[in-house]
Amino acid sequence: MTGDRDAGDDPDDGTARPRLAELRETETVYQPAEDSRLLADAVVETVDAGDRLLDVGTGSGYVAARAREAGAHVVGADLNPHACRQAAAAGVPVVRADLTTAFRAGAFDLVAFNPPYLPTAPEAEWADWMERALSGGEDGRAAIEPFLDDTARVLAPGGAAFLLVSTLTDPEAVREYAAARGLSATEVAGESHPFERLLVVRFTSAGD
Ligand SMILES: C[S@@+](CC[C@H](N)C(=O)[O-])C[C@H]1O[C@@H](n2cnc3c(N)ncnc32)[C@H](O)[C@@H]1O
Repeated sequence: MTGDRDAGDDPDDGTARPRLAELRETETVYQPAEDSRLLADAVVETVDAGDRLLDVGTGSGYVAARAREAGAHVVGADLNPHACRQAAAAGVPVVRADLTTAFRAGAFDLVAFNPPYLPTAPEAEWADWMERALSGGEDGRAAIEPFLDDTARVLAPGGAAFLLVSTLTDPEAVREYAAARGLSATEVAGESHPFERLLVVRFTSAGD
């Protein structure tokens, strides 16, 4: 996903769909893009054989499958049933679940999340699964903040969460939100694109 959401829309035509959705191979499941690859590369650099990894919002299962190739025991989670089916077909054990809420405390060494993050005005929202993959609500942080609320709970001691963050969603606001919940942030990867810079931020519990 890159932040050119409106490019290609006809401003006079209320039925114009976001160009990003049109570019996807399917209308229902987000396919791996530059953000997916940046996150997967950062995860693969860190993962040790045998680590237990939860890929939140697994989509096609791409990040989880890369981590599995690196030796991790992976589980994917997604709200979208089509994504769950696609990830399962790619060999990723998957649970249809909202963020981390379905998992027990301390279950994972690593959590990864490439969230829906494009800032989207309420009147521009589409009620479909691709919208759930792309839209981060008005400030882009609608999925990020509840993720940060619960991610430390599912991490084992010494574990870490890897979150894809765009400059479109105010990384400083993300960092402050996390700090207020006892999470320290370290930027571990970054890549510039025409409309934004993508970052991978590693969060750990401040006490770890
Ligand atoms: C940007 S896509 C990333 C897909 C895949 N991880 C990748 O990197 O290619 C975001 C994914 O998060 C899922 N998602 C959005 N909100 C969610 C939630 N509350 N709980 C679980 N998954 C969610 C969407 O269905 C979508 O598959």
